[in-house]
Amino acid sequence: MTEHPRAERANVPDVDVALLRKHDVSGPRYTSYPTAPQFADTFGPDDHAEALTASATAIDGAPSPLSVYVHLPFCQELCWFCGCNMRVSHDREGGTDRYLDHVLAEMDAVATRARGGADAPRRVEQLHWGGGTPTFLLPRQIERLTVALKERFDFADDAEVSLEVDPRDCSDEQVALLGRLGFNRISMGVQDFEPEVQKAINRIQSEEDTRRVVDGARAAGMTSVNLDLIYGLPFQTPERFAETLEKTLTMAPDRLAIFNFAYLPDMIKHQKVIPADALPSPDDKIAILRDTIGRLGEAGYVFIGMDHFAKPDDELAVAQREGVLHRNFQGYTTRGHCDLAGLGVSAISQVGPTYSQNVKVLNDYQATVEPGDRLATMRGVRLTRDDEIRRAAIMQLICNLELDIPAFEASWSMSFDERFGDALTALAPLADDGLVSVEPGKRITVSEVGRLFIRNICMPFDAYLKKGPARFSRTV
Ligand SMILES: C[S@@+](CC[C@H](N)C(=O)[O-])C[C@H]1O[C@@H](n2cnc3c(N)ncnc32)[C@H](O)[C@@H]1O
Repeated sequence: MTEHPRAERANVPDVDVALLRKHDVSGPRYTSYPTAPQFADTFGPDDHAEALTASATAIDGAPSPLSVYVHLPFCQELCWFCGCNMRVSHDREGGTDRYLDHVLAEMDAVATRARGGADAPRRVEQLHWGGGTPTFLLPRQIERLTVALKERFDFADDAEVSLEVDPRDCSDEQVALLGRLGFNRISMGVQDFEPEVQKAINRIQSEEDTRRVVDGARAAGMTSVNLDLIYGLPFQTPERFAETLEKTLTMAPDRLAIFNFAYLPDMIKHQKVIPADALPSPDDKIAILRDTIGRLGEAGYVFIGMDHFAKPDDELAVAQREGVLHRNFQGYTTRGHCDLAGLGVSAISQVGPTYSQNVKVLNDYQATVEPGDRLATMRGVRLTRDDEIRRAAIMQLICNLELDIPAFEASWSMSFDERFGDALTALAPLADDGLVSVEPGKRITVSEVGRLFIRNICMPFDAYLKKGPARFSRTV
């Protein structure tokens, strides 16, 4: 195969602070299109069941492969910045066992419908445990959940099997067990190493603990380690964050997520404990982002887009160069051909032309699946053809940074100008600022610096943004 020309270009942009300031607007992160505010309770368990069953014959009568997500909501303590669907628990035995009972009941219901009447279980190419903190589970519970999944699904030999861990709540025994059970990727929260920042977010985590789990994961045979940092936290400065980044780089993560702190104290009540006057100024945040992108470029990382960096030989970076990267609720993925089945409280599924989300409150989730053979769907959406076309355009731009207009028109049997005339007009000012280039009738190409503004470039293709306000975090 001929190498894509983008492979030879520098992949980390020079950042112009004035541009960052100008284009810092609120916008969706497009882990789905339509985005979650469009999910409605008119879409329920029967609709999700129908989508699962249909997916069993979706590819010329054969099943599509599955990606399975399991949400494990428990954490031993509350990090005050946290925006995830989590719950503090001190009940590792009974309470967690009970939760797993319910997840296994839901798993039965999903696996049965996903077989669509066939005897053979559905093939799984990707598994991810998210949270919360999946390593809140005791070793015997980790084993129980893994065995249950393998009994109900047919795991591919080369399946990508990953989980999120908090290094403060992850023993050497757990890491070794996860390796033995076939987990090959691990993602760890770090956030920041500076003591004053850690104190202000109630997340005291030593460098030693983080390194211990990174080393343990590698010793256990895991081939990919991701570390999460957050910028925009209280008491951060460009100098201090640069130190956190240096410490992080000594651990040589394969991937890095540099999240912009989503500070929404009106919606996430516990964030009110964070001293708002200690948050870095917008200019300091922009300086942190600019310096971080520069430093990661020097260190040899590729900026994939939307907070994510990877080593150039990482499969995300390779897939992006080859134009075959995808995005779903788990973020960027190389397994875009899979349907996504979410299990557990608040989990989201993406099956064929549908999205659905499980009940979000723990007790309600458990009560919903308790009787057995029940799905936990609370809301969702079935995509129209217009949604599907817009989703394809947005995902193509966000993942592969280039859209070939004639190829797109051919695969969707439509006229790009007719459907997206207003989007092309809305892109003109972004093109004037060098974020994107539009060659009418030929292609749309996101520039290197445009990767930073990828949400802004996708938003003109989103039909729902025009229909009313929804709350999204800021792009920068
Ligand atoms: C479920 S946690 C990771 C696993 C584990 N619970 C931990 O904290 O290490 C997912 C990640 O989301 C990010 N995150 C959580 N709340 C956030 C917020 N309000 N703004 C930005 N990133 C956030 C953090 O970087 C965190 O590591």
